[in-house]
This record gives sequence, structure tokens and C-alpha cells, in this order.
Amino acid sequence: MNASPISWQVRLEASADAQAVEALNADSFGPGRFAKSAYRLREGVDPIAALSFVAVEDGILRGSVRFWPISVGGHEELLLGPLAVQTGQRGKGIGIALMQAGIDAARQGPWRGILLVGDEPYYTKVGFSRLPPGRVKFPGPVDQNRILGLSLKAGELLTLSGQIRRAAIDHPVTADGAAVG
Ligand SMILES: CC(C)(COP(=O)(O)OP(=O)(O)OC[C@H]1O[C@@H](n2cnc3c(N)ncnc32)[C@H](O)[C@@H]1OP(=O)(O)O)[C@@H](O)C(=O)NCCC(=O)NCCS
Repeated sequence: MNASPISWQVRLEASADAQAVEALNADSFGPGRFAKSAYRLREGVDPIAALSFVAVEDGILRGSVRFWPISVGGHEELLLGPLAVQTGQRGKGIGIALMQAGIDAARQGPWRGILLVGDEPYYTKVGFSRLPPGRVKFPGPVDQNRILGLSLKAGELLTLSGQIRRAAIDHPVTADGAAVG
């Protein structure tokens, strides 16, 4: 069977993409996304622009990945996600290509590792593996079997441990997570 030619491209997210990315994440994850522990870590903190990638086809957003800075045992590391691909465009390699672009860019930075909460069979495709239960602690309930990590520097994932906290906040937020003002 011939594979279809690739008609989409991955590039850095631009400020003009923000609205379409938010709409894609809303469609892909629904309002329940804000209740997840991983979102607690994103409140009031900007994603890292140099690690935010979009997939576009003829000017239409097909997928998006963002990475957030987090503190793991006092060290700044990365949280992958949200990662979303438009319904109807899935299974074409867009998700993998977005993550790979972000991982490649992250290797140029100071971080030791990337963490995420997700399906192990999918994320092993780009090198993630399950962390030993209890190694890191999210600020809320998380299925330990879904905590995955990827080392950005040889062996460094083994040294990631401890409480996960929000990185320094960029924007004030209220107790329920809403932006102030
Ligand atoms: C998960 C998601 C980003 C994958 O994007 P995608 O562009 O379809 O993924 P790719 O085409 O790069 O990879 C597809 C491959 O991954 C597999 N895959 C996709 N989701 C998977 C999952 N949850 N678990 C295991 N394998 C999965 C597919 O079966 C396919 O395998 P194959 O190459 O052997 O056929 C997309 O389905 C999506 O946006 N889902 C809704 C949002 C979401 O759940 N995001 C992840 C949060 S943890």
C-alpha cells in the first residue's frame, strides 16, 4: 500500500495561532481538562514559546503541542502537553512529528527531562517510559501508571524525583484558577 504524501508542515507556533490552538484543545479535551492535575501546573504560567509547535496544512491548523516549565524537586524541567490533532486528521503521524519537533528543540535547552501524564503505548513511540511509582508527586490525583518521562541528557531521568510544582507564575490567578483582570 502506498503511503499518502505528506501535505502538512510542522512549524513553531506564532501568536496568531493561539486562538485556533485553544479551540483545538477545547474540542479535543473538553471542559474537563481544567480539572486535571496537569492543568494545575499550567495555571498562570506561559508555555515555552520555543517548544510550542503547530502542524498546518494550507493555512489550517491540524495539530498542536506545547510544553510547560515545571519544578521537579526544585529543578526546572518540562511537562509535555497538551498534544492534540484535529479529528479526521489523526493517524497520519502528525502527533509524533509535533512531539519530535518539541523534543529535538528541548534537547538544546538546559532541562534534564520531560514528564507527562498519558498513554504509555503511544508515548513510547518517541522514547517515553514509565517512571517508578512514587518517584515524582503531582499536586493532585494522578494514575501512577500514566506518569511517563523522557531523558534529555543521558541518564538524567533517573535523577528526577520529588514534588512537582508550578514554575514561577507569569500571570496572577484566583483560587479557582481563573486569570485575574
Ligand atoms: C493522541 C493524538 C494526539 C495522536 O495524534 P495522531 O496524529 O493521530 O498520532 P500519530 O498519527 O502521530 O500516531 C498514530 C499512531 O499512534 C497510535 N496511537 C494513537 N493514540 C494512541 C493511544 N492513546 N494509545 C496507543 N497508541 C495510540 C495509533 O494507533 C498509531 O499507531 P500506528 O502508527 O502503529 O498505526 C490524537 O489522537 C489526539 O489529538 N487525541 C485527542 C487528544 C489526546 O488524547 N491527546 C493526548 C493526551 S494524553
